[in-house]
Amino acid sequence: MDIRNTADKLLRGEAPSLGELAHLIGNMDERLRAELRKAAGELRDAIFGRRVYFRGLIEFTNYCARNCFYCGLRRDNHGVRRYRLTLEQILSCCETGHVLGYRSFVLQGGEDPYYTDDRMVEIVSAARASYPDCAITISVGERSRASYQKIFDAGANRCLLRHETADPEHYGMLHPKEQSLENRMRCLRDLKEIGYQVGAGFMVGSPWQTAENLAKDLLFLHGFRPHMIGIGPFIPHRDTPLASFEAGALQTTIDMLSMTRLLVPRALLPATTALGSISESGREMGLGAGANVVMPNLSPSDVRKLYSIYDNKKSAGNEAAESLSLMKEQLTAAGFVPDMSRGDWTDGAG
Ligand code: 5AD
Ligand code: SF4
Repeated sequence: MDIRNTADKLLRGEAPSLGELAHLIGNMDERLRAELRKAAGELRDAIFGRRVYFRGLIEFTNYCARNCFYCGLRRDNHGVRRYRLTLEQILSCCETGHVLGYRSFVLQGGEDPYYTDDRMVEIVSAARASYPDCAITISVGERSRASYQKIFDAGANRCLLRHETADPEHYGMLHPKEQSLENRMRCLRDLKEIGYQVGAGFMVGSPWQTAENLAKDLLFLHGFRPHMIGIGPFIPHRDTPLASFEAGALQTTIDMLSMTRLLVPRALLPATTALGSISESGREMGLGAGANVVMPNLSPSDVRKLYSIYDNKKSAGNEAAESLSLMKEQLTAAGFVPDMSRGDWTDGAG
């Protein structure tokens, strides 16, 4: 198989076959990497200009009823001090963000049963009423269609739910048997049908992942066309069953970002915290490979370190909202244009 041919397909925005793409991913060389990165960056520039959108992240609960093998917040990890933010605390995070200029908030948490539909509706309605000019994104895991619908009707616009891996067998190796890729995909389809802007995404370098798994992820994204796509390296957490595995490679993560930009041109693509956590230059490299979103943390500083999905998560310094102006300066110096607007997905008509 000819990797040059496959790369040319990507450069034309065509989906290669699973076999072709897996072969390319397993045999990338520095020249091809650079070529895909450059093309992805140029495509982002052609569609969005040099704008980088800001989303304020509010991690409102670290309780989780799930037991994903990779995640430090899994229910069997008894070493975590658990917290929940009150409605007042959540609104106060929004207020801090709004004053700083944020017009897009992401309410993220573990799958915490305390947040019943009624409580989620209360939170989202209150945020919607106080900040009518802002986009509200939820990231609260798998729920029923009826539940997503209620939260949408209360004023949420977007929902993030990574598919984690598009291969059912690989999914089964990373999750306990009560969790299934099938239900995840059901959620993603429901969310889209309800009218959310939907974010999917996956981890790079998660245990047992093959080049073919990654190819499946990219082809799933190409077919499903999410509005947002979160891609970051797997990073081990010491108190999980996968503690002894190595972190995903920076280079492969960057390759996945470039290929994703080429296959889903209009996607909003964050340079993730995980990417910034494995390398000092991770975030800049992500933006260089076609990413166009950053998600600084607006959570109260005393709880930030408790939201420990993986070890050594970047949670202070540049990731903190207080350092917003520094972050903007860095982006500007790198030739980007910080954009604090809602940054809705568009089909190009607007
Ligand atoms: N390393 C990297 N990313 C992780 N996530 C969870 N655990 C880890 C880890 N150990 C990601 C998952 C999840 C998101 C909230 O964080 O992709 O969807
Ligand atoms: Fe819970 Fe999400 Fe972590 Fe899974 S990845 S254990 S659902 S917080």
